[in-house]
Amino acid sequence: YRLKGKFEITAKRKIDAKEILHNIKTFEIAPKSSFSYKYGFPEQGQSCVVCYAVKLHNTQKTVQVSEETPYILTPPVTLIPRINGASIYGVRPGRPFIYRIPASGEKPVRFKAKNLPEGLLLDKVNGIITGAVNKSGEYIVTLVAENKQGRSEKEFTIVVGDKIALTPPMGWNSWNAWGLEVDARKVKAAADAFIKSGLAEHGWQYINIDDGWSIFGSSSEPKRTETGEIRTNEKFPNIKRLADYIHSRGLKFGIYSSPGPLTCGKYTASYKHELQDIRLFAKWGVDYLKYDLCSYRKLIPDYSRQNVIKPYKLAGEIMKQVTERDIVYSICEYGLADVWKWGEEVGGNLWRTTGDIWDDWERMKMIGFEQTQTTTYAKPGHWNDPDMLVVGWVGWGPHLHPSKLTPDEQYTHITQWALLAAPLLIGCDLERLDDFTLNLLTNDEVIEIDQDPLGMQAEQRIVDGDIQIWMRQLAGGNYAAGIFNLGSENGNYKLDFAKLGFNGKVKIRDVWRHEDLGEKSKLQIALPSHGSVLIKITK
Ligand code: GAL
Repeated sequence: YRLKGKFEITAKRKIDAKEILHNIKTFEIAPKSSFSYKYGFPEQGQSCVVCYAVKLHNTQKTVQVSEETPYILTPPVTLIPRINGASIYGVRPGRPFIYRIPASGEKPVRFKAKNLPEGLLLDKVNGIITGAVNKSGEYIVTLVAENKQGRSEKEFTIVVGDKIALTPPMGWNSWNAWGLEVDARKVKAAADAFIKSGLAEHGWQYINIDDGWSIFGSSSEPKRTETGEIRTNEKFPNIKRLADYIHSRGLKFGIYSSPGPLTCGKYTASYKHELQDIRLFAKWGVDYLKYDLCSYRKLIPDYSRQNVIKPYKLAGEIMKQVTERDIVYSICEYGLADVWKWGEEVGGNLWRTTGDIWDDWERMKMIGFEQTQTTTYAKPGHWNDPDMLVVGWVGWGPHLHPSKLTPDEQYTHITQWALLAAPLLIGCDLERLDDFTLNLLTNDEVIEIDQDPLGMQAEQRIVDGDIQIWMRQLAGGNYAAGIFNLGSENGNYKLDFAKLGFNGKVKIRDVWRHEDLGEKSKLQIALPSHGSVLIKITK
């Protein structure tokens, strides 16, 4: 039996439907063989809709599939070094300090740090600063990166005091990729990928294990040692060694537990062992703890503030007593009892504001655009967490797939998370990073907005049908604004800066493209459906 038919491909630019490719091929496929067709067209700087139609001779039926193409806006990194990432960093006195200077540029890059406070040492080859500072204070350090192409400098403020996470944490978490299939090899691979792919050069730091590292709740194995120490399962033979490895690369290590007896995936958690577990985590070298309500919900009659706050307060107090190291405290209780109103009070550095995200437009839109009540609660050290990123290959288990968000939707996702000063946790398989995803995650000007030291979350400023404008103030008197088209039709919007409170002309920069757009009082913007534009505004 030979399958005969016709294959038709049409590519049109999404925004103006201009056809850029059209081809028809006939095919005949013998048993156990296949037909392949390779096509290409010049980069359009925007999505094209590619439609594939297959008509079989015998049935005369046509099957059609279409997809939107990825496009890269982030300009390539320069060969000359550039020091990226946050400009301010908090650490408590005497606590282990570990910071890998995020710097791009042609390898090898050599590092210097001027005016490092006493107690800190720089590894000049790898650009990793380690040590501990005993004396509280604000230290203004000049970081230098040099290679044979040139040199760059950046002022970096180290604040030794009682606050950490002065900018939203940036890292990777195993959940959206691997779910309960996570193991030590995958976590180590993520750390290696941070270095190899260059993500660490753009400020990505934390490598966090989510659910699935302790003993399964209904396993016959002992869940704890005789002294009550929580045990790891066979997929994590030695967590301390894994943490040491991550630290040796200048990165930070995170773990996950629940105040209930079991995690959401039904693995052993910290109920009645809170102090012992958090102490052990510190001994292992944990720098970040995600503490997920999960089965604790069964222990309380309702989700009143008083009930929900209790386990988080307890863990927060323990974290204060555990002084071996700084641990970023990530509260995860899906926004119950308006956590943003008390997250800071219990010592939380970030708190989830909603249920889980997944790679679906409606879900991402709901989480990213319907949280206007949380705006004023974000500040340095304390962030609203609209959950992790769903770009790249995700899957929550053994079978991964490329994010179901279209390229425009992914730009909107990253743009809005940066505006919201959201913690940025990549949730994909880092060994399978494609150019599109890598460029989404390494745009330094976008990252700078997320990491802006003022720490102000964007406010929803204009809602005009499907068009929304969100704006945040940046340090130095500038602003960042996102213009979003949340509707299913392409749109055009004329933004009048007076409506955002600006008088006369303002200087505008396209943040994704790193392009100055001149001085204007109005800006005409073409917006594909579900697409967005991110601008920086200077008065
Ligand atoms: C959910 C949580 C997810 C993930 C999962 C693990 O409650 O929101 O982010 O941690 O549990 O089972």
